[in-house]
Amino acid sequence: NNDLIKKAETVLNNNFKEDKGFTIPCEGLYPFQWNWDSGFIAIGQAHYDTTKAKREIEALLSAQWENGFIPHIVFHNDSDTYFPGPDFHQSKLHPLASKSHRTTGMTQPPVLGFVLKEIYNIIDDKEDILNFIKLNIDKVYHNHEHFYTHRDPNNEGLVYIYHNWESGTDNSPIWDDIWETMDPPKYKFERRDTTHVDAAQRPTNREYDYYLHLIEIAKAHNYDDAKIAELSPFLVQDPLFNTMLIKSNAALIELYELIGNSEDKIKTLKQWQIKAIKRFNEKLYNEKLGAYVHYDLRNEKQLEHISSSSFTPLFAGIPSKERADTLVKTLMDKFGTDDKYLCASFDPESDRFNPKKYWRGPVWINLNWILYRGLKSNGFDAIAERVKEESISFIKTYGFYEYFDPRKEVKDNAGYGGNNFSWSAALLIDLLK
Ligand code: DGY
Repeated sequence: NNDLIKKAETVLNNNFKEDKGFTIPCEGLYPFQWNWDSGFIAIGQAHYDTTKAKREIEALLSAQWENGFIPHIVFHNDSDTYFPGPDFHQSKLHPLASKSHRTTGMTQPPVLGFVLKEIYNIIDDKEDILNFIKLNIDKVYHNHEHFYTHRDPNNEGLVYIYHNWESGTDNSPIWDDIWETMDPPKYKFERRDTTHVDAAQRPTNREYDYYLHLIEIAKAHNYDDAKIAELSPFLVQDPLFNTMLIKSNAALIELYELIGNSEDKIKTLKQWQIKAIKRFNEKLYNEKLGAYVHYDLRNEKQLEHISSSSFTPLFAGIPSKERADTLVKTLMDKFGTDDKYLCASFDPESDRFNPKKYWRGPVWINLNWILYRGLKSNGFDAIAERVKEESISFIKTYGFYEYFDPRKEVKDNAGYGGNNFSWSAALLIDLLK
């Protein structure tokens, strides 16, 4: 395992951009800084290079907007290997956008809160890391405040996303239900992703029309949250996204308690937590499916599909004991059968399941890491171990790919998407330590 850890460190170090102090997810395919990628990357770096872990987080926070918003991509550098770049996004249309950095005008699952807690746990010099956290924690708090003020129009404790790229599960079949409600024009654009990766493993051109159209609507209103809430055909309360926020709230509470003198913030965080967890269980659980699902806020209905996101609430202690049992039964009956590795990103029993295509079926290491932690903290130790072992084995057998084929019958080439993918390396380090 030491060899494997060394290899993982090499992947991360090769993807690290020394001058700006951040790590690209993958050469060519993703040549900038991505929000939740950097969070997972910092967890891996914390195990062997504290300075890099801190710089990673600082580089992301340096592009935070004045209203607390943290964008999904920070374009620290130029690159012509990725579309759509800063000229397409034009996030400076928003009056409070970062003055110093070019960014997108959308965000990604808010992992920074719990990442700060993870790296606090990992790093030995507690005084030094707590000083770092003191310098940065209010920025993360401000980010959560932004979510609850601007992304929760019904004031119910659940925040919405307005774009599939905000979900992190970029082309999940769940979004097909929303695409059916839209009819965007055919945009003229030049894909770059399919010059790096087999098109069969990436979204279709028509899917890109939907993605771009949602951005065009936001741009037409200068990325104004209220306008987006009013007009975006994509307006979804996502169980993975809200789980990340809830887990991060909990981590901020623990960190503020360590720091001291933060009673007001702790009080507010606790209020957010109670409200969010209650509403999450009322609104995002589907009894019939025995799983958490997405809620389509635009069309006021649940999107009745099971995905790897459905099981992530375990990570933030959201389900009751009884509900956790049902959830894990659903996981094992549908995703954990003898012919599959855990955990497919989408319901293998659905006809929309595609074991090779981006988020429509393959296994992702970050979702497995979240699932592993969630299963473990809820007492499902044996299944947690299985998720961990299968994650390690994918990387050992095929390399540091972006995603993997969940079917056991596929033997020679089960690693897909980008290779030398940073969070696969970072989280492998964490799993092996
Ligand atoms: C992509 O381009 O596929 C990215 O995942 C968007 O964040």
